[in-house]
Amino acid sequence: GTFAQLGVAIENGFRLAIDQQGGKLGGREIEWFKVDDESDPPKGVENAQKLVQRDKVDVLVGTVHSGVQMGIQRVARESGVLSLIPNAGVHAATRALCAPNVFRTSFTNSQPTRALGKAMVDRGHKKAVWITWKYAAGDEAFEGFKESYTAAGGTIIKELGLPFPQVEFQALLTEIAALKPDAVACFFAGGGAAKFIRDYAAAGLKGKIPLYGSGFLTEGVLDAAGPAAEGIVTTMHYSDSLDTPRNKSFRTAYASRFKMQPDVYAVQGYDTGLLLVQGANAVKGDLSNKAALYKSMEGATIDSPRGKWKMSPSHNPIQDIYVRQVENKENKVIGVAAKALADSGAGCKMA
Ligand code: PHB
Repeated sequence: GTFAQLGVAIENGFRLAIDQQGGKLGGREIEWFKVDDESDPPKGVENAQKLVQRDKVDVLVGTVHSGVQMGIQRVARESGVLSLIPNAGVHAATRALCAPNVFRTSFTNSQPTRALGKAMVDRGHKKAVWITWKYAAGDEAFEGFKESYTAAGGTIIKELGLPFPQVEFQALLTEIAALKPDAVACFFAGGGAAKFIRDYAAAGLKGKIPLYGSGFLTEGVLDAAGPAAEGIVTTMHYSDSLDTPRNKSFRTAYASRFKMQPDVYAVQGYDTGLLLVQGANAVKGDLSNKAALYKSMEGATIDSPRGKWKMSPSHNPIQDIYVRQVENKENKVIGVAAKALADSGAGCKMA
């Protein structure tokens, strides 16, 4: 569905990290199983159960969509199988439902937007409209935005939403035009984000009311969105243009292997591979040695293309958040919005 390309980038990144270790985990061969959840929440439980019961996997890697992740989470908790989350930001996974066998290498849904509010007020936008898909990822992204924007002195004059994965934005864009805010902030991703950016410009709003978002808005969609995306400012834990040897070597390796440019999803997949490699090496490939495996992963510092990050006590990255602007089809870094930002992990009690 609208997130298909995100899944492709995550898988590519993950495989690249494993390949760079000779294609093995702690010296052992890997057997791969792959299923598609189509970002459809009921398929989370179904798929995870199949992988655990039929295929007897040692590790579940996935997924993109927060609603689907909640299903996988249930199976991970019940079965105790190691679960690595390479994207879905649903708070509960590393807050109230945190577990020793669940690790996230991406973000919580409110992490990128917690840095967005101040960046917007700093740029002079004091009255904003928020718009998103109404499901966990959008609602929790709003939590971060609301907190940061109001703390910086901004006022949210209206919250707009539509059901995931709908892309009929027209009526909502008409409403935004009538509300005349200083700026618009949003959470959209994947194919829906590309369409939102294009529709925003087609409605005549680009150049009149600046569009902001968590960085997913402009990840993996810059070709599809075209000139309508130029100039959009977002906050995110990665930027294409990070000028570090680590990012450059990753980008070169990814582009030459997959004939496409990496994005934040590719980085998250890659980091998931790095984390698993580190854990597997610590137990020489014996993933049944869970105590030692988890201990190694908990203490991990991941040397990521996004910059080095550490695992928080609730198993979510503590990471820098960049301010980026789209320029010539690239998310260029223009500032740092937050250093070593950790999610609260509220309600997490590791068993
Ligand atoms: C989510 O559902 O958690 C989600 C999906 C796509 C993103 C970010 C978060 O880009």
